[in-house]
Amino acid sequence: MSVMRTKPLEDVIAQGDDDDGGRGLRRRLGPLDLMGFGIGIVIGTGIFTLTGIEARDHAGPAVIVSFALAGVASLLAALCYAELASSVPTAGSAYTYAYATMGEIIAWIIGWDLVLEFALGAAVVARGWSGYLAELFDLPGAVFGEGSTVNVGATVITLVLGGVATAGIRQSSRVTNVLVVVKIAICLFVVVAGAFFLKAANLTPFVPPAQPVEGGEAGLTRPLSQVLFGLEPSAFGVAGVLTAAAVVFFAYTGFEAVANLGEETRRPRRDLPLGLFGTLAVSALLYVLVSFVVVGMVDYREIDPGAPIASAFSAVGAGWASSLVSIAAVAGLTSVILVDIVAIGRIGFAMSRDGLLPAKAGAVHPRWGTPYRTTLAVTLGVALLAGFVPLSSLANLVSIGTLFAFVIVSVAVPILRRTRPGMERPFRVPFSPVVPALSALACLYLMTNLSVETWLRFLAWMAAGLAIYAGYGRRRSRMARRELDPAN
Ligand code: ALA
Repeated sequence: MSVMRTKPLEDVIAQGDDDDGGRGLRRRLGPLDLMGFGIGIVIGTGIFTLTGIEARDHAGPAVIVSFALAGVASLLAALCYAELASSVPTAGSAYTYAYATMGEIIAWIIGWDLVLEFALGAAVVARGWSGYLAELFDLPGAVFGEGSTVNVGATVITLVLGGVATAGIRQSSRVTNVLVVVKIAICLFVVVAGAFFLKAANLTPFVPPAQPVEGGEAGLTRPLSQVLFGLEPSAFGVAGVLTAAAVVFFAYTGFEAVANLGEETRRPRRDLPLGLFGTLAVSALLYVLVSFVVVGMVDYREIDPGAPIASAFSAVGAGWASSLVSIAAVAGLTSVILVDIVAIGRIGFAMSRDGLLPAKAGAVHPRWGTPYRTTLAVTLGVALLAGFVPLSSLANLVSIGTLFAFVIVSVAVPILRRTRPGMERPFRVPFSPVVPALSALACLYLMTNLSVETWLRFLAWMAAGLAIYAGYGRRRSRMARRELDPAN
């Protein structure tokens, strides 16, 4: 039996189009709902925390350029997602595209990788959520902080949002949209209020001259690229702006979850690209504006890395803004967790439909129209993880998982152009294969900027995934059974 077997594209398209007599997912979403989900998962804490750290340590005021560059890298990947999502709308997104182009084992690896991205992402963010809530309401760190034995805040928020995700896609969309309006309004407020306190002097030198970093990171915490190419750590200059771009890329992660809603979108061929690009356009614009205001208000050498926006306002006598930023962070993180859980439910649904996970796990609830078993199972797993394990050091695993999926999606575009030249493509990546190649290279570059430690953890996760595949999916998948009995 070949682990490189591919799933016929006709099957994928038929499953996506199939109304299943009410047994499948329901088409309820329009372009604004998709943008709501996209912005819901993208804008979290990245913008509120990374701006300060990266301006002070790597890029200076040019952190604005770093945000723009990370936005361009995300856009390249979004173009590839848009072509595949509009041609083959499916709940599995990258996992399914890989199944149709590169083979079952790669598809499994990507599915397993997406579990890492969305489930671990939800758990990491739930702990952050708890911390912000504690700050906002002065709650005890022993129950809500990183040092707690059981992080009650993180567990409770995960269970509540898992309930919303299970109840229906419309319910999830409504909750997400409210949270998105809150966080966009606060970001806009920061920009407009901050504009009154800008000082041109803070923006010069825009790109501070490069300087070596004494000591720098050591051992496993060094970026892979430094170890591979023997580079000395340096800060500022053009290299500093690029390093910062790799770090702030985290702020854009998640937009591709829009592609997992392909079987719940009323007009997926038109609306999935709109949802992907709309999400990125709004997020990139807000990120560039907010980072401009932060480095314009405070000299980059004096930025408070922990709370750059709140302390920028305190410095000009408007300390109350810090509560506002905490509210934006709590609202932002709530929607990130919710959309993470929604997305992972769809991926589990797609994988069990293909027999790579037990078929019963993927059942859709007759009334709620959601893959309730995978959603509830993931919710419980995430709640336990977030409740008991201090995870903040694992945030980079989320980024590496995302980037890996982007690389695979970028490579899948030219493969499918060759194997399926005649397929209807409502959206086409311009200048393929050049743009997909640039997208894959940009993501690989960003991956090499992550630490050796992150790479090792990522490889360990993948090895565990391969062991599960060898023990279950390799023989139980629908394609494997079809090889033995074509009637399957
Ligand atoms: N992109 C999300 C954030 O910035 C995860 O928090």
